[in-house]
Amino acid sequence: MKKNVILEKIENNIALIRINRPEALNALNIETRKQLASVFLNLHEDESIRCIILTGNEKSFVAGADIKEMVDASNIEVMKRRTEKYWNAISSTPQPVIAAVNGFALGGGLELAMMCDLIIVGENAQLGQPEVKIGIMPGAGGTQRITRAVGKFNSMKINLLGKPMSGIEAFNMGLACEVVPDEKVLDTAIKMANTISRMPPLSVQAIKETIINGNNASLETSLLLERKTFQVLLSSNDKKEGMEAFVEKRKPNFKGN
Ligand code: CAA
Repeated sequence: MKKNVILEKIENNIALIRINRPEALNALNIETRKQLASVFLNLHEDESIRCIILTGNEKSFVAGADIKEMVDASNIEVMKRRTEKYWNAISSTPQPVIAAVNGFALGGGLELAMMCDLIIVGENAQLGQPEVKIGIMPGAGGTQRITRAVGKFNSMKINLLGKPMSGIEAFNMGLACEVVPDEKVLDTAIKMANTISRMPPLSVQAIKETIINGNNASLETSLLLERKTFQVLLSSNDKKEGMEAFVEKRKPNFKGN
């Protein structure tokens, strides 16, 4: 079977996942979604991996869901595919996931990037939600995660006009945390992943969990969640190690317990 998703382990506890369907600009067909979900689910269990990078190729991150698999599909067929289980495998990843985006991140491609925790874009990337142009609408976060990231009016513009924006425009709108020249995207992601992978993993994962879940709750509840999670971390060995290393003026050695 063709490998549409390639997993590489690189130095310092980092996994690099490449989507590899160049003949369709990395459009997500069901097989690619299955492979992607399976790679992510295996990484959930791998304690040696502290940060994950998700990328495509220089021409395309992901050009959306595979339109050829939808053109003749009925709503019931699409519903029965239950693709949310493939998306959930990605969005529920405990480790931080960095989307390294070059080229097209359209439709389901931008939705996939938004399921990640950090987005690094190339200046000439093209990001957008063009679903309106083919008679549908986003179905995996393209009207919701995007509105939380860029506000109602930018979200309306992106979704109602369906026009892609450049990496620079996306960054200026708050849809990416870094914009760099196209050829620097992956290096920047690896550098960022290296920094994260040296942090205490329990803190890293608690911060990720609290930001994501707190964002969906009232301020009162999210502050409570933050406070309680902070208190739990006080009992970790890595807290003891981090604070003692500070006092003793040495480098900490975090073990993730
Ligand atoms: N689905 C299936 N195939 C796709 C695809 C997609 N989303 N995007 C590109 N491809 C295929 C093309 O059909 C073409 O294959 P063939 O040579 O076999 O015809 C190949 O990839 C190269 O594409 P183009 O020749 O079109 O390349 P281009 O450089 O001229 O244009 C593009 C690039 C602007 C990205 C154009 O391909 C395009 O508009 N793609 C569709 C983008 C889109 O609408 N995405 C949203 C899909 S819907 C969705 O994502 C909904 C959801 O999750 C709920």
